[in-house]
Amino acid sequence: MSRPSRDDAWELLTRFTDNPSLLKHALSVEAAMRAYAGRFGEDPDEWAVVGLIHDFDYQQNPTEDTHVHVGARILRDLGWPEDWVRAVEGHASYMGVPRDTTMAKTLFAVDELCGFLTACALVRPDVSIAEVPVKSVKKKLKDKAFARGVNREDVRLGIEELGVEMDDHIAFVRDAMAGIADVLELPPPHADS
Ligand SMILES: [Fe+2]
Ligand SMILES: [Fe+2]
Repeated sequence: MSRPSRDDAWELLTRFTDNPSLLKHALSVEAAMRAYAGRFGEDPDEWAVVGLIHDFDYQQNPTEDTHVHVGARILRDLGWPEDWVRAVEGHASYMGVPRDTTMAKTLFAVDELCGFLTACALVRPDVSIAEVPVKSVKKKLKDKAFARGVNREDVRLGIEELGVEMDDHIAFVRDAMAGIADVLELPPPHADS
């Protein structure tokens, strides 16, 4: 098949997923991948598709024995490009697929951070996500009790593998998510009154 489009990815995602939190996670990662593709001179539409689809099998296959195992098989059966499927596999370290492309490294580096930034935004409903300070995100990363489902080691490793600077990476992903804050139903920018 020709390279799958965003419509193909959305159709596949929503065929397997109706949980609003999971859909918002997919949209967050899509936004971050699109933004990084632009920065790295890659194709934003292709990277966006990979971000959108990376967890499409998760709702129905939430265990390490099934998540990504099932999804990757489906993507290959559908004829998705092998480098995209490998990037999807790489976001789950337990798959043992090396993150040997910038696409794969970026997906891994933004995935957990998107979830963490969502948690940071939701605890401050009075502040728009665009205004969440990098400093407070870093402080919360050190607070083990906050958003404990987010794997801090994965966040650290993702930054190291991608070779980006932590403050810049957090701000970059935050700003990408802020661009679709309305879709993500995160606190909107302050209205002047
Ligand atoms: Fe996943
Ligand atoms: Fe994810």
